[in-house]
Amino acid sequence: MKGLVVAIDGPAGAGKSTIAKKAAKRLGYAYIDTGAMYRAVTLAFLQSGRKFDESYITGLAETADISFRPEDGKNRVYLNGLEVTEAIRSREVTAAVSAVAAIAKVREALVDQQRKLLGQGSVIMDGRDIGTVVYPQAQVKIFLTAGVEERARRRYLERQAKGEKADFEQLKQEIAQRDEADATRAVGPLKQAPDAVYLDTTHMDIEEVTACITGLVRSAEKEANR
Ligand code: DC
Repeated sequence: MKGLVVAIDGPAGAGKSTIAKKAAKRLGYAYIDTGAMYRAVTLAFLQSGRKFDESYITGLAETADISFRPEDGKNRVYLNGLEVTEAIRSREVTAAVSAVAAIAKVREALVDQQRKLLGQGSVIMDGRDIGTVVYPQAQVKIFLTAGVEERARRRYLERQAKGEKADFEQLKQEIAQRDEADATRAVGPLKQAPDAVYLDTTHMDIEEVTACITGLVRSAEKEANR
């Protein structure tokens, strides 16, 4: 029997990866972070030292070997055999990734890889266009969001916990800019699928959101097995 596919989309800082990771562990599903794939291609481009060149970046996306390995609560990311889990979260990558993710051919290449990674299902995939473009047939679709203040606050606390310096207003501005860039690009923009469950987590904690999502998946599993 083919397992279910769970698509979680939403803006930066809504908690998609934290929640998806927890829910996947609880459900015994695999977790695929598609934002990490766009970040990995961006890292490869920055490491090349070249100036922004769409066809060069497309070549990187077409040949990049990106894989995931869950390990002690972490979702380790590998690019061409090397671990890049931390490197893809750098400020440089974060600042450049929206421009890379707006290149139509980069999206084509990564969407292709994402569909292959769905394999036999039992997968939670998170991103911006999973329920709309990558896999509209997903049996469970969730649009996870939160107010921009709250998302900035979460990022701020995350940075502080890592002992990094953070400026709340600047984080808020960066998040709002990324929302705008992600929502207005021509290909695969951030958009709620008409049949996705809209979940505003502004006033919910991680456990409440995780419980809500695992509940939705369990109901869909029952439905699928009837
Ligand atoms: O979720 P994140 O912040 O790691 O995503 C990084 C960037 O990649 C974000 O600016 C939007 C882009 N992205 C995308 O365009 N499509 C996806 N499916 C996932 C991420």
